[in-house]
Amino acid sequence: MAIYLDHQATTPTHPSVIDAMQRLWRDDFGNPHSSEHIVGWNANSKVEKSKQLIADILLCEADEIVFYSGATEANNHAIFSLSNLSKALPDRQQVIISSIEHKCVIEAAQFWAENFNLHVEMVGVNKDGHVDLEDLKKLLEVPTLFCSIMSVNNEVGTVQDISKLSQILRGKGVFFHSDCAQALKAIDGNSIAEFVDIATFSGHKIGGPQGIGCAFISGNLQSEIVPLTLGGGQQNGLRSGTLPLPLVVGLAKAFELFRDDEKPIFTRQNLANMRDVFWTELQKGIPDIQLNGPDLQFRHPGNLNIYFPGVRASDLLMMLQPKLCASSGSACSSGSIEPSYVLQALYGDPVRAQSSIRLSIDQSTTDENLRDAVEMFRAVYLELKRST
Ligand SMILES: Cc1ncc(COP(=O)(O)O)c(C=O)c1O
Repeated sequence: MAIYLDHQATTPTHPSVIDAMQRLWRDDFGNPHSSEHIVGWNANSKVEKSKQLIADILLCEADEIVFYSGATEANNHAIFSLSNLSKALPDRQQVIISSIEHKCVIEAAQFWAENFNLHVEMVGVNKDGHVDLEDLKKLLEVPTLFCSIMSVNNEVGTVQDISKLSQILRGKGVFFHSDCAQALKAIDGNSIAEFVDIATFSGHKIGGPQGIGCAFISGNLQSEIVPLTLGGGQQNGLRSGTLPLPLVVGLAKAFELFRDDEKPIFTRQNLANMRDVFWTELQKGIPDIQLNGPDLQFRHPGNLNIYFPGVRASDLLMMLQPKLCASSGSACSSGSIEPSYVLQALYGDPVRAQSSIRLSIDQSTTDENLRDAVEMFRAVYLELKRST
């Protein structure tokens, strides 16, 4: 079995999530939108309960939760809906996104801006991946419709100060969308909804199943939201399509792993401790390496992003096959030989970007995995350096 250090690409479904979903595939199946019989009512009540569980964690109303197939779809809908608001606010023609957003935000913003006659500005980030607040304030001198800034970056794990950003944006009447696909492992769920108009989440980044995600869409905004999928009228017409009952219940169970009660199943501190030891051991084994992005305490607790000077990340990763899995960018862009645009936004250095690897761990990673990984990286790095 390969050592899997790519938990920010996807992470295994948590056993309690699998348990919660198990019966729903066959024995307890149902279409939550069948309104004329008991099977449908039971399914619908499980969906309502799931919405309530998620809302309790995010501190919002159950009706402010909308399910999607994942964060990509949720982000696309958010960007489309917010762009559409330009019809009511024609004097606001600027959209701001950060330069390190996920491709699904960048491409959706560019596409819908073109369609709605808006223009997109990218706010810069510093070497830690934090949004440059002075740059943001300068951009906001132009009337702006909405701004999209992710809470937690998927490559370098930078955690943005959402409350500060919210204060700046709301002061200018700018709608705020935040991609929170990677957020729950790094920040408390109860510190998101109050600061944004739309926040989007993904199941498979947090121990939930693949193929499901959700958004918090502020109740104040919902009457302005235009659906992208039409037909069934489900979810108050915001997103038509039969809800996948097992996935919805599984997503809610995954959210529950992050409940802030007495004995949380998931603790950020445990994960960060394991990651910190890993980083120390890697540095001992390969003194040349450097950390990309923020200091350890300011990033996602399972994330490392490492510069291996003098070698190509793609060669290093290939030589580690089939024994160790990690990635040189986000999963969506791996396979392409383009160096990470996120690292380029941080360092403006394509060579560094081409020689960097993201390592992401979770609670299922063992100390033995990490000890073996250090040895493998050391051996492969030295071999590559010798041959160059
Ligand atoms: C920050 C971020 N946003 C969005 C996505 C897309 O999420 P999904 O796979 O649920 O569509 C990802 C996944 O890579 C991500 O890391």
